[in-house]
Amino acid sequence: MPTLKKIGVLTGGGDAPGLNAVIRAVVKAGCNAGLEVVGLEDSFDGLIYPEKARPLTPRDVTGILRLGGTILGTVNRGNPFLEPITTPEGTFDYAARVIEMFHRTKLDALVCIGGDGTLAISYEFHRKGMPLVGVPKTIDNDIAGTNSSFGFDTAVSFATEAIDRLHTTAEAHRRIMVVEVMGRYAGWIALHGGVAGGADVILIPEIPYDLEKVATCIRDRDEWGARFSIVVVAEGARARGGQVSLIQQARGAQPERLGGAGMQVARELEDRTGKETRYVVLGHLQRGGAPTAFDRTLATRFGGKAVELLLQGQFGVMVANHPPDIVPVPLGDVVGKLRTVPLDYDLVHTARALGVSFGD
Ligand code: F6P
Repeated sequence: MPTLKKIGVLTGGGDAPGLNAVIRAVVKAGCNAGLEVVGLEDSFDGLIYPEKARPLTPRDVTGILRLGGTILGTVNRGNPFLEPITTPEGTFDYAARVIEMFHRTKLDALVCIGGDGTLAISYEFHRKGMPLVGVPKTIDNDIAGTNSSFGFDTAVSFATEAIDRLHTTAEAHRRIMVVEVMGRYAGWIALHGGVAGGADVILIPEIPYDLEKVATCIRDRDEWGARFSIVVVAEGARARGGQVSLIQQARGAQPERLGGAGMQVARELEDRTGKETRYVVLGHLQRGGAPTAFDRTLATRFGGKAVELLLQGQFGVMVANHPPDIVPVPLGDVVGKLRTVPLDYDLVHTARALGVSFGD
């Protein structure tokens, strides 16, 4: 195995709080182990355009631990294997050009930090011979093979605070407050944020809902004197036999964009219960801001482990949180899979036992 001298680090897909903490850990651990570390801007574009690659030293990452976003920038535009790329040097097959530039830049390996899309792309590059390690990120917490990804705890904390604030105004006006949170295909944020915030109803993609059941739950609460209700809706939740609420259909490699689930639920609940209802969409606020202590720590552990694995020559793997350890799992075992909320998850049982309705 050739000795590693120079590694690249990139961030791809939608951002998540904690990306900078991973970059910092990779740069510090890498440089302390004698490696040169190159920061690649805008995901794999950092290999295509030489001006988007810059050396990173511990000096460059001082102070970024607590920052949201990513100092390297990111792109979320689907599958680069499908589109050719035009640069001042000509038009190229994207993947072939990335690999060519990887060798020209004299990089020995990459750390690719991203969600399911970026990890799938990384796996393809690995299969084409690029040595790399993946680091899972998503606020949605839906990457297979790891118990958690960084960004999730921050998103849940934000959603919890928002629900806390909505409680007081809902109670004052005796209204129904509907809160739409992110979660295209998995209801982790809705479930954890909903339980932590004391929501009365939690609607998640894994459990299609019946709004008459939700309305009954709200009427019951009125009867015993609560007279307000908090309903948390994941953006990917849908009525039984219905469709998800779309803003934009999937186009080519671009995934569909969801939106409107909270508004639909609010309108129908107002009609069914006769109670004044308002809705709030937390949207990208869930992805912004400083990472929580948990996410900073997890991101740092992921970054440190990624460098350790590269130094050991373990490529084509993703670092994963398997408490109490951070372990490598083969990328091939996780790409194309989704980690949804299991219906027998104890938090679902406990929430039900406490009287939370899932609308089923
Ligand atoms: O994957 C995380 C996520 O936050 C989803 O829950 C959401 O649907 C999506 O990203 C929105 O991403 P963007 O608006 O950046 O395309």
